[in-house]
Amino acid sequence: MDTQKLISSVLCCFLLSMLSGRQQTVQGNHHIPSNIRPLKLFIFGDSYVDTGNTNKTQVAWKYPYGITFPGKAVGRFSDGCVLSDYIAKFLGLESSIPYEGWKSSSCGIPLLKYGMNFAYGGTGVFDTVTPGPKMTVQIDYFEQLLKDNVFTAKDLESSVSLVSLAGNDYFTYLTTNVASAEGLQSFITTVVNQLAINLKRIHGLGVKKIAVTFIEPFGCLPIFTGTSSFRQCNETYNSFASFHNLLLNQTVEKLNKETKDSPFFIIDLYASFRSTIKKKGSIKFENPLKPCCLPTVSGDYLACGRVDENGAKLYTLCENPKSGFFWDSFHPSQEGWRAVYSALQATLEQYFLH
Ligand SMILES: *[C@@H]1O[C@H](CO)[C@@H](O)[C@H](O)[C@H]1NC(C)=O
Ligand SMILES: *[C@@H]1O[C@H](CO)[C@@H](O)[C@H](O)[C@H]1NC(C)=O
Ligand SMILES: *[C@@H]1O[C@H](CO)[C@@H](O)[C@H](O)[C@H]1NC(C)=O
Repeated sequence: MDTQKLISSVLCCFLLSMLSGRQQTVQGNHHIPSNIRPLKLFIFGDSYVDTGNTNKTQVAWKYPYGITFPGKAVGRFSDGCVLSDYIAKFLGLESSIPYEGWKSSSCGIPLLKYGMNFAYGGTGVFDTVTPGPKMTVQIDYFEQLLKDNVFTAKDLESSVSLVSLAGNDYFTYLTTNVASAEGLQSFITTVVNQLAINLKRIHGLGVKKIAVTFIEPFGCLPIFTGTSSFRQCNETYNSFASFHNLLLNQTVEKLNKETKDSPFFIIDLYASFRSTIKKKGSIKFENPLKPCCLPTVSGDYLACGRVDENGAKLYTLCENPKSGFFWDSFHPSQEGWRAVYSALQATLEQYFLH
């Protein structure tokens, strides 16, 4: 190997570890026997699965994000690992590289071993209040990489996809419309229909197994529980989430009937959040609704990671991020995701081992 090649491959390894957060802290064994372990994981979604695609102006790139893992902010919307890290670990893979990091790294192939993560914090099935590539655009990026032979049809044969979206569509709807229950219901139908088209498209591109998340009980997110001092979920909002999930479940069943190998399955974030919040899981949190990173001014939900013009923090931090299920007003902590993952494990085994 000549010197230049050597330097560039060392650099690539270094970049790979920086970009994908190689030193995983995710605990748990490889559950999938190596003979049926998928080769690669392709991820589409929002901040629940994004491992570093957002523009560096976003809070996920600022202290105190990432303080638990990898020790500094790297674009994950948590103090550490997020859902996609746990799913990758479950599959016996390292976290796949964020698309944006790969694009700007110019070091190519070595970064592609575990697939790619197209998820972008704040995005949705449709455009949301946060700029960023919505789901169809994320799939466009994927399709282009296939056209460019960055990934081949053979790669896809033994690959899986994780899709986690729609929460931001509803936040956008609720914050930009005078929301009526009827209006929201019809919007939910529109979102699920488009989601179905997109899922079919991912399958059509050649991915053999596609996991799609139910949305979380979003009435339990700190943004909606602050008014009750983090004591009570808003069941009105939860019922909207349930409606989305009901439609999505029906849609997935229908899609599976139309396809011979039943490629789609659901990762139930609703039940797994719910059981953890109700302290029914194996990992329990004393006050599961109260986030660790708390706005100083109540109602200032985007405060975590921000400072005022004098550099004073607009948030307070709990002593131990492990003590909170929620990290900030929208996102679970690493320990929160670990609890959710532990509730999901049985169904993951059922789907991925068959
Ligand atoms: C990052 O996002 C900000 C705010 O949305 C935007 O003004 C800026 O142009 C973006 N920068 C890059 C490099 O995309
Ligand atoms: C839940 O949210 C709705 C809509 O904002 C509001 O009207 C209702 O009072 C909230 N319920 C509780 C229990 O906070
Ligand atoms: C989806 O619906 C089916 C049939 O109604 C039900 O058995 C299944 O538990 C539902 N899936 C989830 C993840 O709730």
